[in-house]
Amino acid sequence: MNKLFAGTALAALMIASPGFAQENGQVEVLHWWTSGGEAAALDVLRADLETQGIGWQDMPVAGGGGSDAMTVLRARVTGGNAPTAVQMLGFDILDWAREGSLGNLDEIASEQGWDEVVPEALQAFSRYEDHWIAAPVNVHSTNWMWINNDALEAAGGEIPETWEDLIAMLDNFREQGITPIGHGGQDWQDATIFDAVVLSMGTDFYQQTMIDLDLEALRSETMVDVFDRMEILRGYVDDNFSGRDWNLASAMVINGEAGVQFMGDWAKGEFLNAGLEPGVDFQCARYPGTQGAVTFNADQFAMFSVAEEQVPAQLAMASSIMSPEFQVAFNTVKGSAPARTDISDEEFDACGQKAMADLAEASENGTLLGSMAHGHANPAGVKNAMYDVITAHFNGEYTSEEAAEELANAVEFAM
Ligand code: GAL
Repeated sequence: MNKLFAGTALAALMIASPGFAQENGQVEVLHWWTSGGEAAALDVLRADLETQGIGWQDMPVAGGGGSDAMTVLRARVTGGNAPTAVQMLGFDILDWAREGSLGNLDEIASEQGWDEVVPEALQAFSRYEDHWIAAPVNVHSTNWMWINNDALEAAGGEIPETWEDLIAMLDNFREQGITPIGHGGQDWQDATIFDAVVLSMGTDFYQQTMIDLDLEALRSETMVDVFDRMEILRGYVDDNFSGRDWNLASAMVINGEAGVQFMGDWAKGEFLNAGLEPGVDFQCARYPGTQGAVTFNADQFAMFSVAEEQVPAQLAMASSIMSPEFQVAFNTVKGSAPARTDISDEEFDACGQKAMADLAEASENGTLLGSMAHGHANPAGVKNAMYDVITAHFNGEYTSEEAAEELANAVEFAM
């Protein structure tokens, strides 16, 4: 199915659940949080607004990473019917701001002192021309491994810290008769692994290739090595991986069918939703070779320009999102770290505490980098160009040498 048709079919299939207007208005929210763990987190926000008398009209567009949601959004805005609030990542927010489609949250931001508590790395995407345009919900990061604890114990119990350790663990998983890597073959999932593999070659290399788009570095031997590693990892994926949703890949690790998933910390939401405990039933660890560095992506709700009577409910939603209580209640369920720097980690589990500590450390050391796979390194044009090459290579269409060359060519064309 080509992308355009997929988008149109999706738009046709997507029926918004009838929200109910309440005494303090209603918000229409477009998002892609449709997995069990994601939906549980979103319910925290919905319930919070309901207690304030604000109705919720749900506009879910399934598809991890949000590409399909962005296609539907484009159709909505073109039709002159923008939703109140839209889940959005990094550069997409700035693109919509540039088009003049977003509202203004300055009033609520200054009342609540957002300037002081939202990390600068996030403010870079929540503000445009000095105005607040989006309310940040969380900080996720992509360079994680989620390991089934029984499988790990059977493999000796040591969390791999190097590429060689990782391969030894994957070989052991294979000997145990399970699928070593639970993975779904969708472009954004391939790209999520790619983020981690590039980062494992060093933060400078990640910066040069994924953020600065240095063509020489994109064509370098190191990039060929990255693709070689992607090819090796591909060898540990099961035969039915193609098209599988990310949460089904998480489920494979949850039920012991697979040993490890390389995925952002939204995967933890699935483990928790299945009643599993970090450190007991599963382990979270940074992808080998990326310890001390973080590739982040923050979900924000971009607020669109809406009719004047809808603005109070929109501002109330933004205000709720940024409240310290909500940041704890939501992020402990979602698997992410809070989007404020002044939140205690007390209520967070071991993986959440690690996420928060890693973020603070990376931010301090200059090793906090925007995730390419999740729209925080470059605008969608460049990201999609990279997706195409990464996925084509993962599916055996290019050798590693060809892939590095194609990646540089695609980026050069998209810039
Ligand atoms: C990411 C998003 C996460 C999670 C994931 C899978 O792009 O930031 O919140 O939902 O997609 O759907």
